[in-house]
Amino acid sequence: MKPMDLGAARASTSLPAALGQRIEPTPESKPLLKIEELSLSRGESLILDNVTFSLRRGGTLGLLGESGAGKSTIALTLIGLLRTPEVGLSGTIELDGAGNVTEAGEDAWLKLRGRRVAMIFQDASAALNPCFTIGRQLMTPLRRVMGLSRSAARARAIELLESVGLNDTPSRLSAYPHQLSGGMQQRVMIAIALSSNPDLLLADEPTSALDVTIQAQIIRLILEETRRRSASCIFVLHDLALASQCCDDIVVLYGGQVMETGPSRIVLEAPMHPYTAALKGCVLEFDTEELRPLPSGAPSFASKTPGCRFAPRCPRALEKCAANKPPLADVHGRKLACWNPLT
Ligand SMILES: Nc1ncnc2c1ncn2[C@@H]1O[C@H](COP(=O)(O)OP(=O)(O)O)[C@@H](O)[C@H]1O
Ligand code: SF4
Ligand SMILES: [Mg+2]
Repeated sequence: MKPMDLGAARASTSLPAALGQRIEPTPESKPLLKIEELSLSRGESLILDNVTFSLRRGGTLGLLGESGAGKSTIALTLIGLLRTPEVGLSGTIELDGAGNVTEAGEDAWLKLRGRRVAMIFQDASAALNPCFTIGRQLMTPLRRVMGLSRSAARARAIELLESVGLNDTPSRLSAYPHQLSGGMQQRVMIAIALSSNPDLLLADEPTSALDVTIQAQIIRLILEETRRRSASCIFVLHDLALASQCCDDIVVLYGGQVMETGPSRIVLEAPMHPYTAALKGCVLEFDTEELRPLPSGAPSFASKTPGCRFAPRCPRALEKCAANKPPLADVHGRKLACWNPLT
């Protein structure tokens, strides 16, 4: 049997150590974001199936799962970028102060995007426009969204670049993306995302295109800057060790279904869902003897799949698993969708 492709999940047990001390969560407060029974279909495929989770103000949440689990689809939905005719959406996305944005039109999204919700994309070199200077790409949202004058936008752009750790900032404004390293480009992306002081920052694998030596710096920068602004952050990750360090809560996804969700320390220290346990078993620890790969396979996204999508690969599957979808239920400090969990 071939092991499944976990990409970066194997890589970085050293990264959390490089992050230094864990940043402690802010005290409980009301949810900034509440997603209930969110489903997204494309034709006959049900890409997200009744996804439910919430995120409190000032909190950090990690979306975890293999490639194709639906992590980026959730992030793109949360910033209103999957609003094409072939995409069917149901359920609710409550953003504090904006109500249910699931049905929001483009006019409403133009007011929310950037101002309330911003995104740091996976590959800064692909996300930045190669034809425009850094200054133009940073000052345009400052002028359009924040309504600053040209000189105020320039001053603010310099401040933002300094806050994300770039030096020689006035000259960086006239640089083109190709004149910066990958790490510097990602810092610029973070500065652009933070420029309008969003409440919610979406970071879709923000370090997977970067050299391992600067991954920790970038993650720490995102955490510190969101914390300083009392913003919330959703990290899309497939690195469990990193998630345990930088996320208050995690949501484990498989085939667009939530398998297990709760405080990261509880879920990752003692996973109860066979899929979370399998993900953990695929991570190479320096002090453990072997990897425990899962059998290869991809989930079926057919909208008529009745049961648990993990059933064909699950070592604990029961007869009823393929026929009946387990509900997401509260069990031992987390929510879990499984008929036969680990104890
Ligand atoms: N543009 C698209 N058209 C059709 N299906 C897509 C498209 N983008 C993503 N998908 C489907 O959605 C699933 C989830 O994708 P994605 O959210 O990108 O996963 P992840 O970010 O977890 O790797 C994929 O397995 C793929 O089948
Ligand atoms: S519901 Fe069944 S198939 Fe799905 S994870 Fe639990 S035991 Fe495995
Ligand atoms: Mg993705």
